[in-house]
Amino acid sequence: MHNTAAVAKMTKYEEQFADWFGAERAFAFWKGRVALYAILKAMGVGRGDEVIVPGYTCVMDVNPIKYLGAKPVYVDIEPNTFNIDPGLLEEKITSRTKVIIAQHTYGYVCDMDALMGIAERRNIPVLEDCCLAIGSKYRGRLAGTFGRAAYFSFQWNKPYTTGLGGMAILNDSQLADKMHTLVTGSARQPGLAEVLLLWAQLCVYRALVYPRTTALAQTLFRYLTKKAVVIGSSSSREFLPVMGDDFFKRMSAFQARSGMRQLAALGSSIEHRRAMASLYDDLLSEKGWRVRQYDRQLMEPVMVRYPVRVTEKKRALQEAANRGVEIGSWFESPLHPEETPLEPYDYKWGMCPQAEKASREVVNLPVHMRAGKNTCRRTVEFITSFVQAD
Ligand SMILES: Cc1ncc(COP(=O)(O)O)c(C=O)c1O
Repeated sequence: MHNTAAVAKMTKYEEQFADWFGAERAFAFWKGRVALYAILKAMGVGRGDEVIVPGYTCVMDVNPIKYLGAKPVYVDIEPNTFNIDPGLLEEKITSRTKVIIAQHTYGYVCDMDALMGIAERRNIPVLEDCCLAIGSKYRGRLAGTFGRAAYFSFQWNKPYTTGLGGMAILNDSQLADKMHTLVTGSARQPGLAEVLLLWAQLCVYRALVYPRTTALAQTLFRYLTKKAVVIGSSSSREFLPVMGDDFFKRMSAFQARSGMRQLAALGSSIEHRRAMASLYDDLLSEKGWRVRQYDRQLMEPVMVRYPVRVTEKKRALQEAANRGVEIGSWFESPLHPEETPLEPYDYKWGMCPQAEKASREVVNLPVHMRAGKNTCRRTVEFITSFVQAD
């Protein structure tokens, strides 16, 4: 994006996004992980620092920490909401802890009373990962407004998609100024060829991907990504903690345009997701499955997917693909996906037993706009033919 009109488009999207959250400022990027990198850098994270993350995340969330020479320190999750267990947080804090990343998993908000209490007492900034939780609330307040900063993703399977895309929001004017200096000084614009390819992919996605075709589309997409025919969310070199030359990129005008349209329609998407989650609760309960218990006065999640635990995850995923039932598999590993080599990311098996158990058991069900009541019923019929895990 080199012309003034295109920059104006992105700026408008940033302003609208910041307004939606009542944030100081927003900055738009090519992907969510780039937004995370920019925030960490603006916060001054560097060599020798430690950054706390849940041991149940996507490796793309950990790469920016490593790119900056810092060390990820993993805290296990509490098994009900899959979020950082605040009871285990304090023992992981050291004099080198620079940031705590509060990832709101599947749409469930972290225990912010406990987490912010610890962070404030120890004087450590909180960065909220809202990639899976746009619109979720805690004590009536939007996730993303508690910490010093937050970030969002608009990648294919996120609450709304612009193909790829990310946004950082900053709730602190000094940090916003630092971010401004950083992006104007060193962020690149995406190239025309990659933007056009992404646009074409988004058109194909909108025309062809529905719950019954998702598994097939994903298999084809992964194959084409490996052959470098399409732009995947992650390239093979992103499974090692070495930053590529073209990583630090802003958002293109077409992503911003698409994002603004979807931001305007976010209210109906939130309503749909809430209704779908509640229908899953009812249908699963009718089948005798336990559903997640949480304080509904305290937390109002907007789900990106609806997680359930099964004893035979691999078989469930295989059969779902054969039968055209849309079942998701993240997270497959403490550092999703399964292929991630854990050692370069300082993770050792056994570090986070609850996260490892969840990776073995959790599959997730669709709640997106293309999944309606019939999809919900069909999905529940399918998944309840398996055994629920404890
Ligand atoms: C919780 C979480 N945070 C961040 C990211 C990274 O977002 P993006 O793919 O837009 O870089 C992901 C994965 O895509 C994720 O699952």
